[in-house]
Amino acid sequence: MLTVKELKNDREILDLIAVTEQNLEALGYTEHSTRHLSIVSNWAGDLMREIGGSEYEINMAELAGFLHDIGNAVNRSMHAQSGGVLAYSLMVQRGMSTRDAAELMLAIGNHDEKHGSPVSRIGAVLILADKADVHKSRVRKSAIITDNNDIHDRVNRAAERSFLSVENTEKTITLNITIDTEISSVMDYFEIYFSRMSFCRRAAAFLGYKFSLKINNVVLL
Ligand SMILES: [Fe+2]
Ligand SMILES: [Fe+2]
Repeated sequence: MLTVKELKNDREILDLIAVTEQNLEALGYTEHSTRHLSIVSNWAGDLMREIGGSEYEINMAELAGFLHDIGNAVNRSMHAQSGGVLAYSLMVQRGMSTRDAAELMLAIGNHDEKHGSPVSRIGAVLILADKADVHKSRVRKSAIITDNNDIHDRVNRAAERSFLSVENTEKTITLNITIDTEISSVMDYFEIYFSRMSFCRRAAAFLGYKFSLKINNVVLL
């Protein structure tokens, strides 16, 4: 079966990721390079493993994580849907079964909170892993130099660390974030994370778990 290791050495995939990053840099969005994609891929695989997923599901979650943002090479708007369709044909061309490629398409096509929903286990872990990646290294240097007041940049710039943890006895998936409150207030997080967090809650519920948000070790959700 195809693995992320092969995708990381695949010229066509790397070109799509490069153009994704070019587009989002031009639009002033946070970093979406192989750093973000590798992290989401690892976290999606880890989460699938921790909730008891099969080797097949773990590998599919990793693939979905690595490919989930390539639709940005087409357009930011509807990037989940265009990325899902792109991933489907790329994977079929590389020998994946049409059924598995369709599962990947469904997961990727539903990772964005505007139009998506958690409708499969692979898709649900992808949503949680993607939303968990808030980190100061994702803010572009240009945004730091001009010290613009964009709330997304401020919130990312304040994030020292974030990770997902799973409690199987309590059936809880927790997003833990450590923030520097000198840069961003907890209220800033609520403001931009409100819709994201309800999306995470729906994703966790699909997996049979509750969702919890902890900021600076304080349980907020
Ligand atoms: Fe995305
Ligand atoms: Fe993403």
